[in-house]
Amino acid sequence: MRYISFGPSGTKVSEVILGTMRIANKTPDEVAELIQTALDCGINAVDTAPIYGPSESIIGEAFASAPGLRDRVWLQTKLGIQPHPQVKSNYFDFSYEHIMESVDNSLRALKTDHVDSLLLHRPDALMEPDEIARAFDELKVAGKVIDFGVSNQNPAMMSRLANHLNVPITANQVQISAAFTPMFDSFFNVNMEVDASAMRDGGILEYGAENDMAIQAWSVLQHGYFGGVFLGDPNYAGLNAALERIAAEHDSTPTAVAINWVLRYPAKMQAIVGTTRPERVRMSAAACDWEMTREEWYEIYISAGNRLP
Ligand SMILES: NC(=O)c1ccc[n+]([C@@H]2O[C@H](COP(=O)([O-])OP(=O)(O)OC[C@H]3O[C@@H](n4cnc5c(N)ncnc54)[C@H](OP(=O)(O)O)[C@@H]3O)[C@@H](O)[C@H]2O)c1
Repeated sequence: MRYISFGPSGTKVSEVILGTMRIANKTPDEVAELIQTALDCGINAVDTAPIYGPSESIIGEAFASAPGLRDRVWLQTKLGIQPHPQVKSNYFDFSYEHIMESVDNSLRALKTDHVDSLLLHRPDALMEPDEIARAFDELKVAGKVIDFGVSNQNPAMMSRLANHLNVPITANQVQISAAFTPMFDSFFNVNMEVDASAMRDGGILEYGAENDMAIQAWSVLQHGYFGGVFLGDPNYAGLNAALERIAAEHDSTPTAVAINWVLRYPAKMQAIVGTTRPERVRMSAAACDWEMTREEWYEIYISAGNRLP
């Protein structure tokens, strides 16, 4: 496993993070086993969120059932996505009151006195940076949160927020996979008259790298927006063939190669893996076994159906 130095404290956090969005049907014992497997492979980080149904409380039960487990894990949660009471949709809330209440609820569910990292989950159009700053300051002083970050935010949003915060934005969690590459597409096709040229994100990767942020990729094995796993999908035959070829060359697996691809961008990259199976956690951890060559990285990008100028 490889580790990044996270936030001002420089905590060593693994490049592969165990995501827990899909554990609703798992028992606390099964989740304790999943976390223990991750730790055995060197994955010391767990990501959750209140919007992932019972995820936080199952993790809390898992911690309660396995003494000492919590202390061995770098724990991250998020806040701000709320089910709307009137319309069939979520909405977003970064108000001071919601931030404070959500963190207390998370700590109670997780059966812990602090989280190592707290992310603002999806941008709230009505966010007032001074309110967020006040909440973060109080959470920091109270020892409830060590580091703070964002998710799904573009550089303009982060830059505005950073101007008001007294703590650095240590991470941005965004969607990236070998079959979900809008950030790379606009990079390669800069200033060209093709759709791939459209920059939809404002330079998230560049901003993250320049500002020493962790860039946490979510859905590293999915295509589209929760479109499904591309591994073994005949619609991604070229991509799968490339992943299999490279895997065979390194005595690895397509899963590990696909995650390795995400981690190869030269920044503080992390890949959040959403599997609920211990054997796939082991496979995912092997993503860090070697650093992908440029030729391998570009082979995967091109084989996914992308064209370079
Ligand atoms: N910030 C955000 O907005 C945001 C959004 C979405 C997710 N996230 C975070 O990112 C984490 C990962 O997201 P994700 O779950 O979508 O990621 P993912 O790792 O791309 O997908 C996990 C899913 O793929 C399946 N899978 C894994 N390996 C497979 C393989 N080799 N063959 C076939 N299926 C395979 C898993 O099934 P098995 O369980 O059966 O292995 C699971 O259903 C989440 O847990 C959450 O922490 C954040």
